Amino acid sequence: MVMACGSSTPAPPGGDPDGGAQTPDGGADAGPTPPTCSVPAPTACPESAPHYPDVAPVFESRCVICHSGTWEGPWPLNDYGHVADWQDSIRANLLDCSMPPPDAGVPITLEERLAILTWIRCGLPK
Ligand code: HEC
Repeated sequence: MVMACGSSTPAPPGGDPDGGAQTPDGGADAGPTPPTCSVPAPTACPESAPHYPDVAPVFESRCVICHSGTWEGPWPLNDYGHVADWQDSIRANLLDCSMPPPDAGVPITLEERLAILTWIRCGLPK
């Protein structure tokens, strides 16, 4: 399939950093919040927008180990549809570092978080 419309995803000027419904507002003291989480939410989509194949390996290696849809794991995150359905929660969880769970020892890098966040910001290009 050919995407003919290039990379001109419109970005709102300025950008509201907390566009989501979940806004902890500083008072998020419930539970073991890792002290070292500062993930800058992407406010614009880069000119060469990432596509699903660019971020799928991150989901594969950092999320699907648990989110595989097996009896012991939560719902799956191993295809585009699953991820698209959960994009709001995924975004929130990546921004506050609650996924992967901080005590799970899954070594996700800031770069990998940003890769997914940027892709979501771009509107999840396939
Ligand atoms: C070590 C296992 C594990 C890994 C790795 C993991 N998760 Fe999860 N995730 C869970 C479990 C268990 C739940 C359900 C229980 C809960 O909400 O804590 C969950 C819940 C979630 C939720 C729903 C939370 C909500 O707000 O309801 C989202 C979204 C999510 N995970 C996204 C991700 C993403 C994205 C990744 C990879 C970057 C990831 N998870 C990696 C175990 C994992």
